[in-house]
Amino acid sequence: MAEFDGRGALVTGGASGIGAATARRLASDGAIVVVLDRNVDGAASVAAEIGGIAIACDVADSDAVTAAFAQATALVDGLDLVVNNAGVGDLRPMHLLDDKTFRRVVDVNFSGVFYTMRAAIPHLLERGGGVIVNVASLSGLGPTRNEAVYSAAKAATIALTKSGALEYGPAIRVNCVAPGFVATPLTALFQAEPETFEPIRRSTPLQRMGTAAEIAEIIAFLCSERSSFITGQTIVADGGNSLPQSGTDPTLAALWERFSG
Ligand code: NAI
Repeated sequence: MAEFDGRGALVTGGASGIGAATARRLASDGAIVVVLDRNVDGAASVAAEIGGIAIACDVADSDAVTAAFAQATALVDGLDLVVNNAGVGDLRPMHLLDDKTFRRVVDVNFSGVFYTMRAAIPHLLERGGGVIVNVASLSGLGPTRNEAVYSAAKAATIALTKSGALEYGPAIRVNCVAPGFVATPLTALFQAEPETFEPIRRSTPLQRMGTAAEIAEIIAFLCSERSSFITGQTIVADGGNSLPQSGTDPTLAALWERFSG
């Protein structure tokens, strides 16, 4: 029997990148997966590939999220696993962030997670329990330059994860994944040029970006009974990128070169 046989799962942002890899990973172990995304065609294509169900929804729209959950639970006959993965980025200094972009980054990356958790919880409780996994970012643990509001929204998602674990244990476990650089369409800009990719590679002990499948594997672990005593936690998957101190690490590396012979 496969690990997720008989389980209903919903993955937001399931049309691309980490969300699509998660939908595939859960389905490969027996889950019936609802692929929820604002990208209708992308969601339909992933759902068709894995024998799942596509629902078009913008997670920033509270009413649409509530309606999508009602639809999803009816279609899959009950949800057990909910992965809040939909997210958008924006790169610019704080003082140049207009209201519209500010609201969009907060609405998708933070409000969307809240709306989805709020809609999911009654269904999970009714079902006797379940699992929620949120996708934050390394930026939520230590802000990255020119991503002030994205970083703050991801930090808020980490806080929501802890609140959810406190309020809904033991019935519902709530955990979070904080990826570093992962090769998906979201990071296409970083991957495109050696000038942007090389510094990332050099400052990452594992010397590469992660893959969407590697993050999906952690999400599957957190969805499974293999993580049955873990709740309220944020698991970092960044190839060690958060370890080197950008200021001092190159200096220390150069010193070793100088004195080692
Ligand atoms: P992606 O751009 O490949 O996929 C994001 C998906 O979310 C897309 O299918 C998009 O249509 C969907 N989406 C965006 N806004 C939506 C909305 N309002 N409603 C419904 N769906 C929406 O991006 P990726 O890399 O797979 O990102 C997934 C999550 O991982 C995001 O939350 C992102 O912030 C987070 N993350 C990604 C990192 C990376 O290096 N790729 C690093 C850290 C965090």
